[in-house]
Order: sequence, then structure tokens, then C-alpha cells
Amino acid sequence: MTKQTDTSAPGRTRLIDRHGVIERNATLLLVLSFLVVTIGGIVEIAPLFWLENTIEEVEGVRPYSPLELAGRDVYVREGCYNCHSQMIRPIRDEVERYGHYSLAAESMYDHPHQWGSKRTGPDLARLGGRYSDEWHVDHLIDPQSVVPESIMPKYDYLMRAPIRPDYIEDLLRTHAMTGVPYTDEMIGAAAADFRVQVDPMGDYDGLLARYPGAQVRNFDGQPELTEMDALIAYLQMLGTLVDFSTFTADASR
Ligand code: HEC
Repeated sequence: MTKQTDTSAPGRTRLIDRHGVIERNATLLLVLSFLVVTIGGIVEIAPLFWLENTIEEVEGVRPYSPLELAGRDVYVREGCYNCHSQMIRPIRDEVERYGHYSLAAESMYDHPHQWGSKRTGPDLARLGGRYSDEWHVDHLIDPQSVVPESIMPKYDYLMRAPIRPDYIEDLLRTHAMTGVPYTDEMIGAAAADFRVQVDPMGDYDGLLARYPGAQVRNFDGQPELTEMDALIAYLQMLGTLVDFSTFTADASR
């Protein structure tokens, strides 16, 4: 049997020996581990209290127009998020199917966010512009009429549910309280902006100045302003605010 010789430097041996003291004393190990985790935690968490915003700002992202916001409320009320996500992960198959992965900035004005946790139906984060308004009307009235194997429920009653901007100012104000930058001007004009977004003959310059890129048209094709109009206005703007032909992530600049 060959005798084992310690080849490490004497200083190093002593350090390892000292570590043995901690390893043999559970209480000491616990106290010191707690100390390390506390310091690490403070270093990571404390700066967040002084940072105004941790989300990279992205050109084009703006708060929802009053009609889109009302449509978003219909989406939440009907529980669409139970079957649809709005979050494209940076994974190849997702990006190839749905488009550019979702950016944090794209849901920065969502309270609460609609990322969802289940995909019975497809992700909707980049739905805007993929189908015509007529397709959405047909699909929401009777999904099986356009996708025979669909298990999505019918939402035909939205066509018969008139919607008025009675509470729209309060809705904008509530979102402003959570940090969405709705100005007093936006809140004051909310009811008018709400109505004019479905009226291509109206004076919608103010709406477009306040909400660049807002789409103005009669979304459900019938004269009355209904929840269907609001919901489709919302669906048609999903994922359309950022121009991905010019966008480069900060990290890759
Ligand atoms: C029970 C689950 C379920 C619920 C709830 C549901 N959907 Fe769906 N949805 C589906 C399924 C499944 C599909 C795929 C088949 C189809 O196109 O109908 C789908 C497809 C869609 C599509 C087409 C997406 C694409 O890219 O082809 C849209 C738009 C849509 N749903 C919107 C909605 C909206 C808006 C709501 C709420 C008012 C809603 N869904 C509620 C299951 C659901």
C-alpha cells in the first residue's frame, strides 16, 4: 500500500479544515447560509426600489384606446384567457408558428396581464391583422361554421349586446391609477374617442393623435355599437404596435 501524501499547499489545507468546522456544525451552517442568502437577496432586490421601470421601452407601444380597453374587458369577462395565452415564448417552434416572441413592453399596460397558462386554443399575442373582421364575426358567432372541429364556445350574444361609454372615463382613470400614462386629455376625450373609433366618417384625428395606429372602422358590420365591435377592435390590434422589421432588442444592439 502506498502512503498518501498531501501535495496541496499548507495554506489551502488549513482553509479546507476550517470549512470542515462549518460542515460539522448544523446551526453554524444554517446561520451562515442564511447570511449569504440575505446578502444576495438584498443585492438583487434593493435596486428595484429605486428603479422607475425595469421594462425596456419599445417604440410603438401605447396605452389601449378606450374602445380597445372596453374590448379587453369583454375578453376578460368572457374568460377567453382560460383557453388562450397571449405570450409567445422565445422558442423556435413558437416563433415559427406565431411570430416574434413577446416583449415585456407589449404587456406593460395590461392590468392584469393576459399571458394565460393554458392553450386549448392558439396563442393570440400576434392575432391582429391575421383575419378579416368578417372572419372574427363569423367565428365568434359560431366557431364551428369556420373551423368545423373547433371546441370554442359561441359568443353570438355579443352581437346583440349594445355597449355605451358610460363608465369609460372611470375605466381609464382606474388604469391610470395603476400606472398607465392616460393623461387628463385622454380621459376627458374618452367617450368621444370610444364612439368615433367605429365611425370612419367621423372626425377621428384626435383619436389617432392620442392613440397612434388605432384602427377606425365598423368592426362588426352592423350599425349599432356592440360588445362585438369592442372585442374585435381589441383582437385586431393585438401584437401590431411594434414594428418588428425595425426592432432590435437592447441586448443585441
Ligand atoms: C373552451 C376553450 C375556448 C374558449 C373559452 C375560447 N376559445 Fe377561442 N379558440 C379555441 C380553440 C380550440 C380554437 C381553435 C379552433 C378555432 O379556430 O375555432 C380557438 C380559436 C380562436 C381564434 C382563432 C385564432 C387563430 O390564430 O386561428 C380566435 C381569434 C379566438 N379563438 C378568440 C377567442 C375569444 C375572443 C374568446 C373569448 C370571447 C375565446 N376565443 C374563447 C378555444 C377557446
